[in-house]
Amino acid sequence: MTDPDFITGLPKAELHLHIEGSLEPELMFALAQRNQVAIPFASVEDVRAAYNFSRLQDFLDLYYAGADVLRTAQDFHDLAAAYFDRAAADGVVHAEIMFDPQTHTARGIAFETVITGLLSAIAEAEAKHGMTVLLIMSFLRHLDEADAFATLEAAEPWLERIAAVGLDSSELGHPPEKFARVFAAARAKGLKLVAHAGEEGPPDYVLQALDLIGVDRLDHGNRSLEDPLLVTRLARMCMTLTVCPLSNLKLCVVGDMAEHPIDQMLRAGLRATINSDDPAYFGGYVGDNYRAVAAARGLDRGDLVALARNSFLGSFLPDAAVAEHL
Ligand code: HPA
Ligand code: ZN
Repeated sequence: MTDPDFITGLPKAELHLHIEGSLEPELMFALAQRNQVAIPFASVEDVRAAYNFSRLQDFLDLYYAGADVLRTAQDFHDLAAAYFDRAAADGVVHAEIMFDPQTHTARGIAFETVITGLLSAIAEAEAKHGMTVLLIMSFLRHLDEADAFATLEAAEPWLERIAAVGLDSSELGHPPEKFARVFAAARAKGLKLVAHAGEEGPPDYVLQALDLIGVDRLDHGNRSLEDPLLVTRLARMCMTLTVCPLSNLKLCVVGDMAEHPIDQMLRAGLRATINSDDPAYFGGYVGDNYRAVAAARGLDRGDLVALARNSFLGSFLPDAAVAEHL
């Protein structure tokens, strides 16, 4: 049975959200017009109709194309403000949002433009919704190590405002080991470390994320389930997995929501959480993700509370703040 009001009313943290992936088609059109940018779609319906993916790369091609309308600090502010409004309405009281600087610097948009727009929206959301927000700067793994190092250097003036670095984009063929040195440099600067692993990539990529990067949290991690020893290890170390059910469905990581392994993860003792990933592209925000997987897998209130509790335990909030949310 789904429990929509219970789900909305459950205070939760969102730990896996790409802010560029919250760009709704309506805002894409408005920004295209405001910035005089041509987009390859005739209408909002046209954009939504294109959101049919059979693998991660299909989605990424559209995600990077869509991000081209983002040009000014005001654009990044408006993008993030729209996400915070939606998240607050879903009962999100704490969000750790990823941004991909290279998606923008590669187009000639300054790092400063991106981050000042995001930071002003964060300040506004903290005042307006009473929520807390942390920023995760994500490296694009299809680019090389030198590009990631240049991004870390560009972030230097803003490091006080960045909680963690992450690793996203095309997983297959770009294992975590490719970025071991840049993650070590980020760790030395006091940043937390997260990485997408085991979304499309094999369990070995999850092992690399643990052993060669030393991640503090794992994004997705679904394919860990193929390796029972790895599951035991993740459970024993209380590693948080940021699971994204609607993303998994849209990107064919699962064939059907009825086959989603969220309850298998919980039963195995994994600290699984529910997140929206790229809500504008995958058909729903965090509440929709809870509802979809709860209905398909028959989760009860105890499971939902456990998932929301895991979201705070897995956050990068200080211990005292975590305790206040439990
Ligand atoms: N996986 C990998 N890279 C991404 C994603 C994702 O789901 N969303 C945005 N970049
Ligand atoms: Zn993601």
